[in-house]
Amino acid sequence: MRALVMTEAGGAEHSHVLDLEPPRPGPGQVAVEVAYAGLNFVDVMARRGDGGYTADWPHHPGKEVAGTVLALGEGVTHLAVGTRVVAATRGGGLAEVAVADAELTVPVPDGVPLEVAATTPLGLATALLLLTDAGRFAPGESVLVHSASGGIGTAVARLLPHLGGGRLLGTVGRPEKAGAALRHGYHAVHARGGDGLAAELRAANGGRGVDLVLDPLGTTALDLDLDLLAPGGRIVLFGNASGAEPAPLPPLPRLLGANATLTGFSHNGLLTHAPAKVAGAVRRTLDLLAAGSLDTPLTVLPGLAAVPAAHDLLAAGRAEGKYVVALDR
Ligand SMILES: NC(=O)c1ccc[n+]([C@@H]2O[C@H](COP(=O)([O-])OP(=O)(O)OC[C@H]3O[C@@H](n4cnc5c(N)ncnc54)[C@H](OP(=O)(O)O)[C@@H]3O)[C@@H](O)[C@H]2O)c1
Repeated sequence: MRALVMTEAGGAEHSHVLDLEPPRPGPGQVAVEVAYAGLNFVDVMARRGDGGYTADWPHHPGKEVAGTVLALGEGVTHLAVGTRVVAATRGGGLAEVAVADAELTVPVPDGVPLEVAATTPLGLATALLLLTDAGRFAPGESVLVHSASGGIGTAVARLLPHLGGGRLLGTVGRPEKAGAALRHGYHAVHARGGDGLAAELRAANGGRGVDLVLDPLGTTALDLDLDLLAPGGRIVLFGNASGAEPAPLPPLPRLLGANATLTGFSHNGLLTHAPAKVAGAVRRTLDLLAAGSLDTPLTVLPGLAAVPAAHDLLAAGRAEGKYVVALDR
């Protein structure tokens, strides 16, 4: 089978499409013949060699797939060969065959195209869990999302109306990305880097503080988040896009004074410690897709050879929305 393999830390020059032996499912696992795989920033962080994102080289990227069950490992009884499924993989998803834990493999309802389903195991599930589980969003609240025009940012915008709706504010790294976020459902989007950002965002929220901030920017925007937070508000830290060493967290008086809740979120951590939470979120987003009430814009890449250039776009902050790749056998 063909698979994308990253041979050492760096850029696209170390990403290669190679012929490999297909993986076999171990006990409690399934092998999936992959039709579409999602691209995610975590693969870019691994490619850069960010600490904690790749254990060793070569690295096999890809953490969400859609396809059909090819083989069952020992003890797997609730899935059948040939069933259309999505799966959250621990890695190796950017390949013609991927192995996943059966408990993280979910059947795809009729009528949901596999290219759309491929965005559920990591992308849509993360956006849903950020809002609900970590963010405790309540209908009518205001939400601020950094990197609003990206894959997660777009998914948050699409999901929010299904959770009761609220005022949605975003930031983007480049002004030209604001339009895409606005099209996907943000009420106001501002570029980071200017002096007046806090004032602009507060004004865009009617002069009020923000109830929930979803922040994948390490600690670089944390001061801004705390300045903007409404009393009792929540900040969910869920990434470190620049890969820079995070600064120490703000001193206790700052958190106390802001009546702030600071929460961490890791999809990967949940795969290990609470896989049922991820599987539940995947089912819920698949159900919304099956009901036809959730549309998720995406860019479909024609094959694995196109993935390194798309990873370049993500790494440079020039990507927009969600990308999936078709496995072009
Ligand atoms: N904790 C979790 O479980 C989890 C799960 C999924 C995703 N995430 C995180 O969520 C974020 C979005 O993920 P995604 O897959 O949807 O990717 P994405 O938003 O489509 O692309 C990543 C975005 O990060 C920003 N960025 C890239 N390089 C940067 C840099 N050096 N410094 C600052 N910002 C930079 C850019 O947006 P702007 O320039 O417009 O801000 C870029 O478009 C990522 O940081 C990812 O690691 C975390």
